Amino acid sequence: MKIFSGIQPSGNIHIGNYLAVIKQWVAFQEKADCIFCIVDWHAITVPYETKTLQQKIKEVASIYLASGINPEKSIVFVQSQVKEHSELAWLLNTITSLGDLQRMTQFKDKSQKHSQNICAGLLNYPVLMAGDILLYQTEVVPVGEDQKQHVELARTIAKKFNSKFGETFKIPEVSVLKIGAKIMSLTNPDKKMSKSDPESSRIGLFDSPEQIKKKIGSATTDSGREIKFNPKEKPGISNLLTIYSLFSDKPIKDLENAFASQSYQSFKQSLTDLLVEKLEPFRNKKSELDKNPEFIEKILADGAKRAEKQAQETMQKVKKVMGL
Ligand code: TRP
Repeated sequence: MKIFSGIQPSGNIHIGNYLAVIKQWVAFQEKADCIFCIVDWHAITVPYETKTLQQKIKEVASIYLASGINPEKSIVFVQSQVKEHSELAWLLNTITSLGDLQRMTQFKDKSQKHSQNICAGLLNYPVLMAGDILLYQTEVVPVGEDQKQHVELARTIAKKFNSKFGETFKIPEVSVLKIGAKIMSLTNPDKKMSKSDPESSRIGLFDSPEQIKKKIGSATTDSGREIKFNPKEKPGISNLLTIYSLFSDKPIKDLENAFASQSYQSFKQSLTDLLVEKLEPFRNKKSELDKNPEFIEKILADGAKRAEKQAQETMQKVKKVMGL
């Protein structure tokens, strides 16, 4: 089985991204051929800082490795280092329906957010993403809920291409984790935890014990005093229970029983201890990687070489069937 997925080197990757996306990747690694990309060409479709882009790319690479991605087994690379991504995206642009692109929820959201600055790349973003996926004859794409629509469009594009030019691409399936797919903001539990919201709203994978303590301590709770899972009436506590459950591998029901007679405060204390413990391997791996920056560069260069080989094979087929 062939797996492909990627994360943008923009903003701050947090436990929500880990639980919904990266944790799935690590599990897939055991049973599939995996390619994990750092999609810098997607990150530049909205205003960004040129000076810190390289640093952010390295940061995402550290997160992949600290999460348990094994670069000897899986391919880890940066999108812009394999030029076939842009080549295939251009070709797919010629068969993608403009109406489909304009309908994408993320395009609508982002073009509202950056209304002074909407570039054609923002509209074409899903075509580049379809190229990423189809270039490797990907069978399964593990992503967060918010990317489901883009993977569905990649399927539509692949089917259209195959029927127009002959069987060329595998049709990819999407894989979305049901629980954990939505971790909410700590400060506003009606909203998803987001890479671009204030620091206090999210827990980063490399947060120090002090940061974790402070953020969980000030996380929004609800009126009442019961530790009960009820996202409508108790969104704050329900979110903290979800986080607790996912990091402890204990069902929410068991946690409700265990904390039945305890206060919000002691529940938060216990969650803080759990997160400090579970994120310790991430912090350790990060400080190890920081001591040896060439190590990551080497992994990315090697990954790009391995990816390129596969990408070139697909491009040869594509050009042939298109008469190029
Ligand atoms: N658009 C995805 C996101 O923002 C990242 C991405 C780019 C991706 N190309 C991909 C994910 C290909 C899966 C497959 O999360």
